[in-house]
Amino acid sequence: MSKRPIIEPFRIKSVEPIRTTTREERQRLIEASGYNLFLVPSEAILIDLLTDSGTSAMSTEQWAAMMRGDESYAGSPSFVRFRDSIQAIFGFRHVIPTHQGRAAERILFTVMCKKGDIVPNNTHFDTTRANCEFVGAQALDLPIPEAKEPSQVHPFKGNMDTARLAEAIEREGAKKIPLVMLTVTNNSGGGQPVSMANIREVKQICRKHGIPLYIDACRFAENSYFIKLREPGYAGKSPREIARELFSYADGCTMSAKKDGLANIGGFLCTNDDSIAQQQKDLLILTEGFPTYGGLAGRDLEAIAVGLNEALEEDYLHYRIASTAFLGNHIAAEGVPIVQPPGGHAIYLDARAFLPHIPPSQFPGVALANELYLEGGIRSVEIGTLMFGEHARMDLVRLAIPRRVYTQSHIEYVVEVILDVWRRREAIPGYDVVHQAPFLRHFSARLKPRSTRA
Ligand code: F0G
Repeated sequence: MSKRPIIEPFRIKSVEPIRTTTREERQRLIEASGYNLFLVPSEAILIDLLTDSGTSAMSTEQWAAMMRGDESYAGSPSFVRFRDSIQAIFGFRHVIPTHQGRAAERILFTVMCKKGDIVPNNTHFDTTRANCEFVGAQALDLPIPEAKEPSQVHPFKGNMDTARLAEAIEREGAKKIPLVMLTVTNNSGGGQPVSMANIREVKQICRKHGIPLYIDACRFAENSYFIKLREPGYAGKSPREIARELFSYADGCTMSAKKDGLANIGGFLCTNDDSIAQQQKDLLILTEGFPTYGGLAGRDLEAIAVGLNEALEEDYLHYRIASTAFLGNHIAAEGVPIVQPPGGHAIYLDARAFLPHIPPSQFPGVALANELYLEGGIRSVEIGTLMFGEHARMDLVRLAIPRRVYTQSHIEYVVEVILDVWRRREAIPGYDVVHQAPFLRHFSARLKPRSTRA
């Protein structure tokens, strides 16, 4: 391997200033926001790692394509370019545009599931779980056991536990399982990839029982690149060839183009089943729009058509995965506990191990996320007891890296801020909730630190 540093494979044509604040300003702002980073204005954030969704920088080609956007209500050539671009990668017969991933999920589950059904997944993302439960079905997570141990290293920690899948089908009967899903990469499990061998094995089990397999494809390009790097037999294949093989085992997919579509909004739903596609399009018209735009502007369809191809470029993926790993490996080398190994789109700090003096009931994830903001203006997100309640298995802080937005020096800055917080971790206080909503409380809860900081 060359010793030369990995560089951003782009140069910058348009810049967006980010504003530094003083510690006193941040202290005032976070207090006024009830110690909830969702409520801090984004102008007061220096490095925003809240999500990698919809936050990508678009390329010159995407902006140019947007000018070609045809805004016809029906039969737009922008839809034809969108559909062709997706079919060339994903290979599915029907492509149905939606305004984002969760709209695709809602339509998929409404058409395919009924009350009492069960939908297995490696791990359902929150919106996938919520949409599944909304139609009365049960969202069943079947990650491999390694996925539950933050410090355990496994090359494909996003894999599904196929023995438990086979067991669940035997126990419940195939009739109760209208589809099986695989989330690539597994966001809720730490941004970890799923291997091609695992996808093939899941498909075999599904085929035996006549159950269709759908992929939650948000981060399909990153997952394909991990397969290239880590799975025997794939080193010589392009990410595009790997993606094509991956989707060849599936009967359809849901997609949020806000991730590996490199777009700021958009999504789609694919299937090979003509009758299901017809029902999905009928529903689409009810809430999203006509099947040639589905809740998107023609220019959005164009941006996605180009973005999906750029996300599969090897130079880009090489830099992307290396940049996330750089962050994870540099803090881990100093002892900071993270979900190992580093994921594709994010690094997850293990807040329970980082702040062992703060019990889960005092929200160690919130305490750590707030400290990163106070220390260096970095916004991250708690995925733990505030988000899931007392049943949370882990208290994690996700640092999601927007695509093509931050440079190496931004990442180095994030490393330094985390290490500064690490060095004075004993003085970080826990929190109490002073106000909360009856559901999805993490978005609007207001909290208070338990003691004055040292
Ligand atoms: N599936 C996965 C695996 C996701 O990560 C997301 C979104 C969705 C589905 C839903 O897509 O937002 O377009 O409706 N994840 C974002 C995140 C919100 O921050 O991880 P959407």
